[in-house]
Amino acid sequence: MNKAVRKAVIAGNWKMNKTPSEAKALIEEMKPLVKDADCDVVLCVPFIDIPAAVEAAKGSNIHIGAENIHYKESGAYTGEVSAAMLKEAGVEYVVIGHSERRTYFGETDQTVNLRTLAALNAGFKAIICVGETLEQRELGYTETLLKYQTKMALTNVTEDQLKNVIIAYEPVWAIGTGVTASADQADEGNGFVRAAIAEAYGKDAAERVTVQYGGSMNAKNADELVSKVNVDGGLIGGASLKAVDFSVIVKAASK
Ligand code: 13P
Repeated sequence: MNKAVRKAVIAGNWKMNKTPSEAKALIEEMKPLVKDADCDVVLCVPFIDIPAAVEAAKGSNIHIGAENIHYKESGAYTGEVSAAMLKEAGVEYVVIGHSERRTYFGETDQTVNLRTLAALNAGFKAIICVGETLEQRELGYTETLLKYQTKMALTNVTEDQLKNVIIAYEPVWAIGTGVTASADQADEGNGFVRAAIAEAYGKDAAERVTVQYGGSMNAKNADELVSKVNVDGGLIGGASLKAVDFSVIVKAASK
């Protein structure tokens, strides 16, 4: 089994950008540019933008995702959003454990796991982010760390649920910095993630999981990155806020 059996997924992560009306305008601009994609196209948008984004994407090949999900069904969790709320709003994907959540909002491997289980149990596709800091890389911990984060995130996830799991390898030092991992570094990191899945679920199951690269992926470097055997698409920050740039990345993953 090889890359040919895995579906490439290009997902935008808008982070804290775009108001609802801006979201609508950007999706309208993107729709004709990505309509012939031969990969899955996803836009993960701020909670407040979801209704406008779902409405704008209706009838197109763009799928809408959220940037987080809470693990409890309901209750006193001020500022959080539940699976049921996201379901009713028409979301199909959720980003979990982004390094910005881990760094600024106290997200841990345990909460990433709980959010993953909540997302999968509700039938969403989960885009789970893992990645090392520059310090961890320089200390030689990249493989250990990526395998640990991957296995922790997937604790109690069944083999059947793996079909709705996407892992995004996002080296922290490459996010929003303009410093992209080389294609070989991306391939190696994604390979560590896949090896961790193989250790937990077996090689065949691991070969079927989509593993994205994320971190300063753009219209210029996407071609080389997605040409790598372990890079099944990307999770795109800055470049997903520009319709043309995003569509060039979608086209690179469609070859
Ligand atoms: P940039 O593409 O802006 O580096 O962001 C990557 C990212 O964090 C996507 O989740």
